[in-house]
Amino acid sequence: MSVPMIKFNNGEVFPSFGLGTWKAKPTEVGQAVKDAIDIGYRLIDTAVVYNNEKEIGEAIASKISQGNIQRENLFITSKLWSTFHRPDLVEPSLKSSLSNLRLDYIDLYLVHWPFALQEDGDLFPLSEDGKFLFSDVDFLDTWKAMEQIYKKGLAKSIGVSNFNRRQLDRLLKSAKVLPVTNQVECHPYLTQIKMSSFLESKGMMLMAYSPLGSADRPWAKPTDRVLLADSKLKKIADKYEKTPAQIVLRYQIQRGHIPIPKSINKERLLENIDIFNFELKKDEVKTISSLNCNARLCAYEEAQDHPDYPFTKRDEY
Ligand code: A2P
Repeated sequence: MSVPMIKFNNGEVFPSFGLGTWKAKPTEVGQAVKDAIDIGYRLIDTAVVYNNEKEIGEAIASKISQGNIQRENLFITSKLWSTFHRPDLVEPSLKSSLSNLRLDYIDLYLVHWPFALQEDGDLFPLSEDGKFLFSDVDFLDTWKAMEQIYKKGLAKSIGVSNFNRRQLDRLLKSAKVLPVTNQVECHPYLTQIKMSSFLESKGMMLMAYSPLGSADRPWAKPTDRVLLADSKLKKIADKYEKTPAQIVLRYQIQRGHIPIPKSINKERLLENIDIFNFELKKDEVKTISSLNCNARLCAYEEAQDHPDYPFTKRDEY
């Protein structure tokens, strides 16, 4: 199966759909990546903090060495973790990811969160009383170092993730290289309507993480609503002889977003990419959008006292 390509604001082409790897265990991610490449996935979204880069790198290297795929036809994303925001840590951090992923350039490198955490230690630095240890590195300084890795060709494109509108405005005022994307949580219970049109107005793409509602998030409670069990989605799915998962992924495609659903299961990998052969009607897209209840699944509340925490109440979006 093949995935249509889009073009970023810097002229680079990129797949409109890809594989998410957050929560994919090191023992299972390698096979999932190999299966995904065989099925037709070309975008693989990774991050240092997912703790599975090495296994993903091995899977990619084995597919390339077996001649199943060429490097230039794969599009790999990774993300700068918050403990590496200090400008002198940005390039070494990318190089460490490149070494794990067995690549000599990354297609897209994102600042994972706008806030910085204390450098040079654990990925989740904690004080003795269990509180996050913050750093005051300004993301504008981090961005300057991101621009350098872009200019050096170590990253073909650069962008951000989990930035709010105010933070994007501030970044865009001083950026010499525009971010190509803001990767944010997006699904029918958190539709990101305002963020989506803001990004569009700035020529940036919205990459949608947790597009299926991340039922496997570690902090899910048994009483939480399950997106894919929503009866309105089921009704639309039945009409097209598709599944609710395919409906919510197609919804992202029609909104011009790049969804990156995670699966480690071959059948579901096949199911999730099989969304380019039907079209939702305008009123169905509207119905799906009406499910919005601002249910943020990945709020990262442990960092809410950080001045650069993105999801405070004073921010509209
Ligand atoms: P699995 O990896 O076992 O397939 P998200 O991308 O929103 O984070 O969602 C990931 C979750 O959704 C995982 O639990 C994943 O399980 C599950 N999942 C992936 N594809 C499908 C699908 N087509 N139908 C139902 N659940 C799916």
